[in-house]
Amino acid sequence: MTGGIFISFEGIDGAGKSSHVQGLADAFRGQGRAVTVTREPGGTPLAEKLRVLALNDPMDALTEALLMFAARRDHLMLVIEPALARGDVVLCDRFTDATFAYQGGGRGFDWAVLSTLERWVQATPAASLRQPDLTLWFELDPAIAAQRLAGARVPDKFEAQPIEFFAQVAAGYERRAVADPSRFARIRGDQPRESVWSDVFSAVTDKGWLR
Ligand code: TYD
Repeated sequence: MTGGIFISFEGIDGAGKSSHVQGLADAFRGQGRAVTVTREPGGTPLAEKLRVLALNDPMDALTEALLMFAARRDHLMLVIEPALARGDVVLCDRFTDATFAYQGGGRGFDWAVLSTLERWVQATPAASLRQPDLTLWFELDPAIAAQRLAGARVPDKFEAQPIEFFAQVAAGYERRAVADPSRFARIRGDQPRESVWSDVFSAVTDKGWLR
């Protein structure tokens, strides 16, 4: 049996990542793989409740980071680890890089504390530090992302932030990518949808996971 594969999708709000999660799931299923599609914060009944709180209620940055990591722990133990143990492909719309980007970069919360929480939360019975095998990072100018989001829906707490916040979030993603370059594939989000998809597909075929 082929081992599990863990792929996360990251980027600022409006960068266009979510629309490609299903496409990649279909591609893997078409080649006979079992796929678990999930998201953060969320993915379990408890973590979805924490998502509603974290995305809507005002709170300080440490509280926000703790909720994100609490949701992540539940999600890892109940969904992600069992799926990887079965040999599934796990496609996760956001994972721990989002905490570094949003709470670390956007909110300016202490990076070292986040790193400590990461080590606690992502130590599982199967992995000393569970990380995605590949992170697809959708990069887009915050001004273009804001235009795409404008009027599309009622914004949550993060989507309502000014462009400067998203520039800081992008800087947080950059810092994570520089620290672990082999895990990240940069996807240019300013291209036509088909070109973005083609880059997503190439990033995965380059790893030898799809033909
Ligand atoms: P998002 O993934 O964009 O979902 P939707 O497309 O339904 O809006 O929304 C999740 C929001 O939560 C997004 O603004 C980023 C934020 N977030 C954090 O601030 N920290 C985290 O650790 C995670 C996973 C998400």
